[in-house]
Amino acid sequence: MDAECTPASGARTPRRYDDDRVTRHDDIDWGAPEVAAHYDELPLWSAPFGLMLLDRVPLRRGQVVVDVGAGTGFVTVELAQRCGPESRVTAVDPWAAAMDRLAAKVAFLGLTNVDLVVAPAEHLPLADASVDLVVSNLGINNLDDPPAVLRECALLLRPGGRLVTTTNLVGHMEQVYAAYRTALSELGLDEHRPALDAQEQHRATVASVTDQLTGAGLEVVDVATDAFRMRFADGRALLGHWFVRLGFVPGWRSVVPAPDADRVLALVAARLDAVAAEQGALELTVPMACVTAVRR
Ligand SMILES: C[S@@+](CC[C@H](N)C(=O)[O-])C[C@H]1O[C@@H](n2cnc3c(N)ncnc32)[C@H](O)[C@@H]1O
Repeated sequence: MDAECTPASGARTPRRYDDDRVTRHDDIDWGAPEVAAHYDELPLWSAPFGLMLLDRVPLRRGQVVVDVGAGTGFVTVELAQRCGPESRVTAVDPWAAAMDRLAAKVAFLGLTNVDLVVAPAEHLPLADASVDLVVSNLGINNLDDPPAVLRECALLLRPGGRLVTTTNLVGHMEQVYAAYRTALSELGLDEHRPALDAQEQHRATVASVTDQLTGAGLEVVDVATDAFRMRFADGRALLGHWFVRLGFVPGWRSVVPAPDADRVLALVAARLDAVAAEQGALELTVPMACVTAVRR
């Protein structure tokens, strides 16, 4: 209960969101610069997971929803609209810059049913047993202390309330880890294999997510798994890609201490280039899960 919960309002609210105006289809101007600025608003990496989640969450008017690890908040924004203006969605994330971006989107869209909590989700300014739905798209697997956050979520949920979370799974981008193992062997750096294995295995499994949710006192009632492909021209294109550099390269680099890390990553890229040359492109598989749990 130590974080401040503030309505996400802003000066540039063009129109208040009100879904009673169902006959008004002409109130958004395709030519306005801010429309273009908000058109491309979703992290591509997050999209397949978010679609999986949005496909499975209960959608009801008047729901009280919490989005844990909301980031720039596309799931928040979707749920605030898909559940109607009588719903209330609280986005929680300590990443202040992302929450500023979410606040701008909320203001632009005229949403009046979104609150922002710029803080870790371990303690939330919401009453116990007051929440119908907790969602977390790629959130729980990125927390420092998942058990503490899940315990808080379980307390906030009403009996019958649901927690729906998505995660990537062990096995994601396995082609990269295979090339990394080859590179370590070729450079005589096999002593780093355990660190690489740990880097690969620290991703979630369905069993580990189920254990975490059960450990927080929730009952897992549905598990859906799927996978998508990410395609690149070759290994250099993969390792140079902005989001891969943001989200993955630091972990891969941490396996081998400097200065060898650069040599290893260069060889990983070369080995992946060879795979791409053989197969026409580098096609990486990303397995994912969407797990739903209920508070009884
Ligand atoms: C991979 S991002 C996912 C963001 C967003 N849900 C999406 O799908 O694009 C993980 C998010 O978890 C947030 N996070 C990390 N620790 C957190 C904590 N203790 N409480 C809440 N959010 C946290 C990060 O700041 C980040 O925005």
